[in-house]
Amino acid sequence: MRIDIVTIFPEFFSVLDVSLLGKARTSGLLRLGVHDLRDYTHDRHRTVDDTPYGGGAGMVMRPEPWGEALDDVLASEQRDPAAPLPVVVFPSPAGEVFAQTTARELAGEEHLVFACGRYEGIDQRVVDHTATRARVREISLGDYVLNGGEVAAMAMIEAIGRLVPGVVGNPESLTEESHENGLLEYPSYTKPAEWRGLTVPPILLSGNHGAIAQWRHGQQVERTRRVRPELLD
Ligand code: ADE
Repeated sequence: MRIDIVTIFPEFFSVLDVSLLGKARTSGLLRLGVHDLRDYTHDRHRTVDDTPYGGGAGMVMRPEPWGEALDDVLASEQRDPAAPLPVVVFPSPAGEVFAQTTARELAGEEHLVFACGRYEGIDQRVVDHTATRARVREISLGDYVLNGGEVAAMAMIEAIGRLVPGVVGNPESLTEESHENGLLEYPSYTKPAEWRGLTVPPILLSGNHGAIAQWRHGQQVERTRRVRPELLD
């Protein structure tokens, strides 16, 4: 999978060199390109924003550098004309909410582009123009406001990247976790069997795999009902 990121803060993404995603990059499973939006400006101050038409607080990102940056990342590879169009994700608190289902959909793509806006957002014409040459998704990490799309893009890239076949060593660990079956995860325990006076639930030491699976499922349902009842509807 190829992932391109356009941002005015490329240094944010240096953390993608570590851990599982770092390994996936080294092995070639993930090809990551980070592009500085200011490299596509042509003025001395490398300006990327301006005041909003119609007035109002804050600044809006100008369309010209975005147009050139996206020209570059969308054209920089000879594409098979039969291949699906790349997906361009605009992280935005005004988008559809990101979920495990979204991560699974995007993990099946060949080429993702994350267009990280700052300030009050990007001129809407950038989104509209991009929709003429790519599949556009405006996606929110959740119902809160961040200073820009970078942290949201990072979270999405981690959730998506670990679902790309080969990135996580043991694929079984992906199917047993929170949200994969619509329930929250069951609690986990390891050695020692007693720690600071607290013991492990005896069923987990019984060796009875059927009973353990049943207990874990019960724990998932109980935890989901208590913490996230809306997931059971
Ligand atoms: N940019 C600012 N807030 C955001 C959010 N909640 N999700 C995605 N991108 C954002």
